[in-house]
Amino acid sequence: KGDPRLQAISEAIRVIPHFPKPGIMFQDITTLLLNHKVFKDTVDIFVDRYKDMGISVVAGIEARGFMFGPSVALAIGAKFVPLRKPGKLPGKVICEAYELEYGKDCLEMHVGAVEKGEKAVVIDDLVATGGTLSAAIKLIECMGAEVVECACVIGLPEVKGQSRLSGRPLYILVEPR
Ligand code: PRP
Repeated sequence: KGDPRLQAISEAIRVIPHFPKPGIMFQDITTLLLNHKVFKDTVDIFVDRYKDMGISVVAGIEARGFMFGPSVALAIGAKFVPLRKPGKLPGKVICEAYELEYGKDCLEMHVGAVEKGEKAVVIDDLVATGGTLSAAIKLIECMGAEVVECACVIGLPEVKGQSRLSGRPLYILVEPR
């Protein structure tokens, strides 16, 4: 905190009220992606944090975790593992269900994408309830790898250290406006 880049990151995220439904203040990171300096600063902050930590896996959550994860993976010398919505991955998968506001969803990962003993970081654009991240942690850890931390661009301060994340640390850059 106190990093001047964080203010610019916060301001580059467009807030769209009542999308996708009434009452939701949608945090739109596509405007951040349009600004090369802010996009690069966002990736650089994650890269500086996770380089030299022995991390060999960056896992990104569909869809907006795919917009940050691969850049971080390339820069720290790790592989990128996509965690996808059901029915998208063609190989053998493991699946982990999680609660939504309305109903359930599930996240899938290819079997063999991570190996026992590997250290992983999970990246997404935003954490709200932590349900999605907690499913991601379970997928990776049930293969015997370790989730060192979850990292999101935007997060509610209340979600920090939440038990849903199975005690794994959460790193967030900015809070919703
Ligand atoms: C959003 C966001 C996170 C998740 C966070 O994705 O990008 O993945 O919700 O919510 P949670 O912390 O309450 O689990 P969304 O479900 O909109 O999917 P999309 O990125 O594929 O549109």
